Amino acid sequence: MTVLPRELPGLLLDWYDKEARVLPWRSQPTPYRVWISEIMLQQTRVEAAKSYFLRFVEALPDVPALAACPEETLMKLWEGLGYYSRARNLQRAARLLVAEYGGELPASFEALKSLPGVGEYTAGAIASIAFGLPHPAVDGNVLRVLSRVIAKPWDIAAPGVKKELGTAITAILPQRVGDFNQSLMELGACVCLPNGEPLCGECPLGELCQARARGLTGSIPVKAPKKARRVEERTILLLFREDGRMALRRRPETGLLAGMWEPVNLPGQLDQWKVLDTLLVEMKLLGTKMGALPKARHIFTHVEWQMTGWRVEVSGPGQPESGLVWVRPEELREEYALPSAFRVYTGGVSGGGQGARASEGG
Ligand code: ADE
Repeated sequence: MTVLPRELPGLLLDWYDKEARVLPWRSQPTPYRVWISEIMLQQTRVEAAKSYFLRFVEALPDVPALAACPEETLMKLWEGLGYYSRARNLQRAARLLVAEYGGELPASFEALKSLPGVGEYTAGAIASIAFGLPHPAVDGNVLRVLSRVIAKPWDIAAPGVKKELGTAITAILPQRVGDFNQSLMELGACVCLPNGEPLCGECPLGELCQARARGLTGSIPVKAPKKARRVEERTILLLFREDGRMALRRRPETGLLAGMWEPVNLPGQLDQWKVLDTLLVEMKLLGTKMGALPKARHIFTHVEWQMTGWRVEVSGPGQPESGLVWVRPEELREEYALPSAFRVYTGGVSGGGQGARASEGG
């Protein structure tokens, strides 16, 4: 059984009252705002999330607004945050909340946890921060802080570790549960930093911390080596018609970047002959002019794309079944949310319709 020091909540809350960052979801911790912020913070650092959060809650101030939001608008609000399935889950959950809970988040850990996209951590965070319910919220920061405090050399990714720490936290939860949970996250984000660089001199738990006392902050937490990412090569094609419109298509409804818009792209690193041939055979498009685009790399959680690209001017009837839509550059900018993986290529497509700059004519 894991036991945490009794003095820990008092020390942390005193520190939090003095040092906590002022964050938009903290100053007005309504259940909706806490929910949105927690989903954003699963994938984005606090500083980067702030502006996305403010824009999101301004556009969609409550659950019914989120439930009713057109998909393209939602994707546009999420553009740049990545992991778009989280935005889709937010909307699925919002629709469920409208249908079953009168458009409000329920004040129950179990009911929160049953919502799409809400797991043990997020349910605990919303329950404690927004409703003051006595639940722990154990994220990566909390795992690190507490593993160091008790100098436990366990693999923090191992099954059962989160649960065990959650039980230990529950045993010492103070009245101010939401602030306490946030103080643990805050300490992990601002002081008890990862990768052997904690700012122990500033830590309110300095006297308690076993890892510090024994010189183990560099080796705790123990992390099991990550599985190597799969590398995939892709060729990105910015296809332009004579009228300056560029081709987009939709990704499949499941899998990586499900349902997102994308420029045409093909597996492998294709030379210009292979590109021209594929366009003709598969899309009934004749390439009339082409130029190479720079190489780029994008890292997802489990896959790395190594990309090369071509800008191709095309003519010809096109194949209706290939699912291409031809969009004006300003539509691309304003209406279509494109995954950031493609931004190196599509970012330059703006008013002039030139697309990313080609490095050679052709
Ligand atoms: N990370 C996730 N949620 C957080 C919160 N409420 N405060 C600080 N960091 C967080």
